[in-house]
Amino acid sequence: MKRIIVTGGAGFIGSNFVHWVAEHQPGVHLTVLDKLTYAGNRANLAGVPDERLTFVEGDICDAALVDELFSAADACVHFAAESHNDNSIADPSPVVRTNVEGTFTLLEAARKHDVRFHHISTDEVYGDLALDDPARFTEETPYRPSSPYSSTKAASDMLVRAWVRTYGVRATISNCSNNYGPYQHIEKFIPRQITNIVSGIRPKLYGDGKNVRDWIHTEDHSSAVWEILMRGEIGETYLIGADGERSNIEVLRAILSEMGCAADDFDWVRDRPGHDRRYAIDSSKLRRELGWSPVHTDFAEGLAATIAWYRDNEDWWRGAKEATEAKYAAQGQ
Ligand code: NAD
Ligand code: TYD
Repeated sequence: MKRIIVTGGAGFIGSNFVHWVAEHQPGVHLTVLDKLTYAGNRANLAGVPDERLTFVEGDICDAALVDELFSAADACVHFAAESHNDNSIADPSPVVRTNVEGTFTLLEAARKHDVRFHHISTDEVYGDLALDDPARFTEETPYRPSSPYSSTKAASDMLVRAWVRTYGVRATISNCSNNYGPYQHIEKFIPRQITNIVSGIRPKLYGDGKNVRDWIHTEDHSSAVWEILMRGEIGETYLIGADGERSNIEVLRAILSEMGCAADDFDWVRDRPGHDRRYAIDSSKLRRELGWSPVHTDFAEGLAATIAWYRDNEDWWRGAKEATEAKYAAQGQ
């Protein structure tokens, strides 16, 4: 697989994947297809050598453009999505279009040109777990999405499964837990709190702060996706996680402490409607069958490096800060 299309490659996880492939996999050429929505940033790809990368600004719903790109590709790794739950609650329309119609458009091109397809999805398709439930999500857990975002990701997963079974498309799916690391948009939990503190704004915690997320460093997500793309079994789903369960208040207190703030230096704000309580991934299938394991196993260390990255790269996020906080303020968050 020498020619790989990366949709959403100018976003958080997609751009980290592009950097990871450029660094670890010589001989692969990447074509990023990205619409550059508010969440996409061409600067995320700075430093990737020109000869390794073609950047195409465009929409995954544009069937003619997608067809042209797939006619000259061996594989596609599909990251592009409207990825934020709070936005999907405020306005679900672009979320349905990109996540469902966009995935359909790509699958049709993969079918026509017999392109190997890897679909990036989320653990949120499984709904949530109770805080005291000993269970974690597995590949067998029934789908039970809660939000407009997670329901459209679930719908896109179903399209991929149907295109494998009905048309023989060579596809795999991965459902990963919450990512953290550099280049994450400042609307998301961890970068929002870091950039608030740098800006003299108090961090904001939803609800009772006890909701649990299962954190994984985005570099570990990238290495897992590569293993699945190379050695995963067609038609299979793999859960990606790094045993990183933590409550939101624990994560916030770790950020406050690392940034020299008092433990109660934050505001409680209105909860998210339909807020999922807990996500937790059992990634033993991926570890057992493909031999993958995460490298970033020390969350405190990964968080400190992420905080340092946002401190060192204020130019990268400063321009979006005011509008992001204004949007949250209008929602009481
Ligand atoms: P992001 O919002 O940071 O980036 C999304 C990218 O897709 C942006 O560059 C945007 O410009 C692009 N895009 C949006 N609509 C498009 C369209 N119609 N055509 C072309 N490009 C378009 O998202 P992210 O956090 O990097 O998430 C990437 C993928 O990983 C998504 O599929 C998401 O569901 C999945 N995922 C995310 C997480 C997480 O913690 N962020 C966890 C598991 C899975
Ligand atoms: P988020 O980063 O939006 O990811 P997801 O909804 O995909 O899990 O939020 C992570 C958790 O943090 C989620 O439980 C909501 C919570 N949260 C806050 O408490 N405060 C905030 O300002 C944000 C953005 C999220």
